[in-house]
Amino acid sequence: MVNILKREIVITADGSSTIRLCEEDECYHSVNGALAESLHIFINNGLKRFLAERELINGSKPECINILEVGLGTGLNCVLTAIESLKYNNLHFNYITLEKYPVTADELKSLNYENFLGRDYNLALEKIHSTPWGIEEDILPNFTLTKIMCDIKELEGDSLKERISNIDVVFFDAFSPNIQPELWSREIFEGLFSMMSGGAILITYSSRGSVKSSLREAGFTVKRLKGPSGKRHITLATRPDTFLASFYL
Ligand SMILES: C[S@@+](CC[C@H](N)C(=O)[O-])C[C@H]1O[C@@H](n2cnc3c(N)ncnc32)[C@H](O)[C@@H]1O
Repeated sequence: MVNILKREIVITADGSSTIRLCEEDECYHSVNGALAESLHIFINNGLKRFLAERELINGSKPECINILEVGLGTGLNCVLTAIESLKYNNLHFNYITLEKYPVTADELKSLNYENFLGRDYNLALEKIHSTPWGIEEDILPNFTLTKIMCDIKELEGDSLKERISNIDVVFFDAFSPNIQPELWSREIFEGLFSMMSGGAILITYSSRGSVKSSLREAGFTVKRLKGPSGKRHITLATRPDTFLASFYL
């Protein structure tokens, strides 16, 4: 059982802060750079990769992108995606995020993301956290957020699957398999797979063999990508596009 209660704020190698679980010695982000890690994994290799590939296949970007994040935490991935949304005209971002243990108001005040985001985008981060749970809210002109307070284990049942569908990109950002192996299971990945569209991707920081095996067992095609500073590899999993697959058979 993870001790989520004893937490402290620490500064990572790029100067951005993160939260550390004291008893587990587990951080919400890489100690080699929280901001750098989020940008490398979730924005560049998740979001931008998906949009570039969609444009390559369809000749244009989609009108709407549905993103599901597993573990809102500090909101860093979420606010970076919201900022990214400002670069795209005619593309609506629908961001859904799951969290069981929300960060506290004191922790939010102690994080230093305003130094990197600037005042305006820090206001967006504040709005991300003040938005009520379970309600769809506009954060920026093309960015809508729905925060769901729940246990990721619910992905094994039907309740979340009934509420969430057509996901294009999953940011899988649970605590590591070292301390929460049960969240990196075939059953959880099958739950996510069923919520995703054909050709959708799941991006995560773990490249552990058992994680890749569980992803494959759930039906994903799995690829290793270069990791951020201090981490050799990360994992990209794709839900095969059945339409394209049948075309090539
Ligand atoms: C690695 S941190 C996420 C970092 C986050 N994406 C960010 O940018 O700060 C893992 C997150 O998963 C959440 N979490 C852990 N176990 C969970 C569970 N069983 N259900 C839902 N969320 C969980 C934690 O509270 C934490 O916020």
